Amino acid sequence: MKKQNTPETPTPVLPILSLSGIQKFLDGKEILHDVSLEVLPGEIFGFLGPNGAGKTTTMKCILGLLEPEFGELRILGSDKLTREIRHHIGFMPENTYLYKYLTGREFLRFNGKFFDIPKEELENRIDELIERVGLKPAENKLLAKYSKGMLQRIGLAQAIINHPKIVFLDEPMSGLDPVGRKMVKDLILDLKSQGTTVFFNTHILSDVESICDHFAIIHFGKIIANMKVSELKGSLEDFFMESIEKTEEGIGDVV
Ligand SMILES: Nc1ncnc2c1ncn2[C@@H]1O[C@H](COP(=O)(O)OP(=O)(O)O)[C@@H](O)[C@H]1O
Ligand SMILES: [Mg+2]
Repeated sequence: MKKQNTPETPTPVLPILSLSGIQKFLDGKEILHDVSLEVLPGEIFGFLGPNGAGKTTTMKCILGLLEPEFGELRILGSDKLTREIRHHIGFMPENTYLYKYLTGREFLRFNGKFFDIPKEELENRIDELIERVGLKPAENKLLAKYSKGMLQRIGLAQAIINHPKIVFLDEPMSGLDPVGRKMVKDLILDLKSQGTTVFFNTHILSDVESICDHFAIIHFGKIIANMKVSELKGSLEDFFMESIEKTEEGIGDVV
């Protein structure tokens, strides 16, 4: 009998991050309702939503900074954020720079010391990162003297000092001028080309359209859209506005 020529079944790619039915209450208010999403390895994932929608809260749950009341979370194949797993995660918070009296270089060194990076290797990584984010002339200036754009740059460098497999960036482009935004976008694309998965929160739609593989929209703590950028029929702006309006009609008078 002739052997059937069956095409090889592709091995399914396991998500690097998955959230299933996440619910989070803060001050007795339900902030996240049943948030579920999956991120595949090597993707740039844009997490979109209006201010106050629940983006930062979701990110804090993923990073173990907040504990959800319900739901399941898996990252890098584990449902526990062990020390080993944390070593492969990078995070840039939205606006948290407590160390105003450290220089840019000292700030990176301080953060790098949380990982077991040998001293010489750490100094080399700091050199490379400072060049990459364009802060060479300011490396020995105090963070107190940094502009918003410079703080974003040093924040990004800090988030990738451990060469993470997945990096979380909370509003990495907000408040940046076009040059700063281009630098952040190029850096994100550069990370992707090295195989790093990037998850970032934003409300800048054009940035999602230009660099993301996948996006989800959160509104009032609910995921209202979740798809590949390539599946968009028209502009993301139109899609975003339609999705938001549809949800608001669904829940009545919201304002
Ligand atoms: N610590 C907190 N206590 C109570 N409510 C909070 C706290 N943090 C955030 N919220 C509320 O949760 C909602 C979602 O906030 P957040 O996740 O910061 O939104 P986003 O990042 O999308 O702008 C907002 O209504 C906000 O006021
Ligand atoms: Mg936020």
